[in-house]
Amino acid sequence: MPPKLLHPFGKPAADGFRQLVKAEGVRLWDDQGNEYIDGLGSLWFCQVGYGRQEIIDAVTEQMQTMTVYNAFPPWGYPVAEELARRISDVSPLDDSRVFLCCSGSESIDTAFKIARATAQLKGEGDRQIIVRRERGYHGVNIGGTSAQGIAPNREGWGDLLPHVMEIDADDIESAASLFAAHGERIAAVVCEPVQGAGGVFPPTEGYLERLRELCTKHGALLILDEVITGFGRTGNWFASQTYGVTPDLITFAKGVSSGYQPLGGVIVSRGVCDVLEADPNYMLRHGYTYSGHPAACAAGLANINIIEREGLADRANHIGERMSSGLNALRDDGQLDEVRGIAGLWAGRIREGLDVSDTVRVRDRMLDLGVIARPIGDSIAFAPPLVIEDTDIDTCIDVLAEALKVLD
Ligand SMILES: Cc1ncc(COP(=O)(O)O)c(C=O)c1O
Repeated sequence: MPPKLLHPFGKPAADGFRQLVKAEGVRLWDDQGNEYIDGLGSLWFCQVGYGRQEIIDAVTEQMQTMTVYNAFPPWGYPVAEELARRISDVSPLDDSRVFLCCSGSESIDTAFKIARATAQLKGEGDRQIIVRRERGYHGVNIGGTSAQGIAPNREGWGDLLPHVMEIDADDIESAASLFAAHGERIAAVVCEPVQGAGGVFPPTEGYLERLRELCTKHGALLILDEVITGFGRTGNWFASQTYGVTPDLITFAKGVSSGYQPLGGVIVSRGVCDVLEADPNYMLRHGYTYSGHPAACAAGLANINIIEREGLADRANHIGERMSSGLNALRDDGQLDEVRGIAGLWAGRIREGLDVSDTVRVRDRMLDLGVIARPIGDSIAFAPPLVIEDTDIDTCIDVLAEALKVLD
């Protein structure tokens, strides 16, 4: 009998889910008493580890004083304003403003609507195209599904958004050609600085910089989707800073609250804000009931404090050194054939073109040996909490090495 819960990205007919009952630091336990080191920060989101009392207290205190309300006019509350200010301050976008929502998928659809609204407000009604990048993952709402560069995620739903076009993931010339043909109709390009769910692919040399140039030249907005890469994961608050590229909109979620509460949003650059603010009678007819939810904002603020105080962005660089040297050693031994990643985000390719059923077997063996990682196509990915100790990083690598033997 399948469980009552229809699991996200699950096979509805499937059964046999491992039931987690406890989480502490970088460790989780299931109801059978098995212990796991979390090599994936849950789903690339838990920067600060589990059970941080400081965040739990901040959420509790917020709920005890002003449990919940909405931020639709005329209402606001200090915790939401403070979080928006904090995120703007650590972002690369000076004098930006921040829209809040509850997930990465909502942040993406919000960014698309803001990009298109900006074009409409500037009198460029034909500028509607959203450019997606092959291998990109941008969530599962209708905008994000249409912008998926992972083709199977687009299939099986009937018609998606019109006016979405695709560019190559690595070859910037494909973007140049698309802009040459359709530049005046492109509203925005959406791009993960490091592609995550597609398999952990850092950008090819100069790709992001050229994309920025093309967007600027043709009057399109650059949306950097930092849902995975934000909040320390690539060694800075944002990967935009790591790669020195300034977008017009940044989408974020996951690491902003380390997942303690559902939280996401869009950082809106001053240039875009100027357009939105120009007509005092213009109303942004977009917003969620829980945009700026007080408990989520309290979790976000406490989480950001921890990332800053404990220097977790720097720590991500250290994790990167240790993890890449472990993975590269496996590659030198011939157990992997490619290692990709940066700072707190890594993948090892076992063999090009290996079927995902084989990487799932490796993942399952790793679970039996007490380490959580993610099978993606022919690769195994890691994105541990940024508080992981060196010995646990080494265990992740050792367990991967042992689990690879299931393919012998
Ligand atoms: C880059 C990126 N964008 C958007 C999303 C969607 O986020 P959510 O699952 O919170 O809706 C994800 C989720 O993994 C993501 O990796």
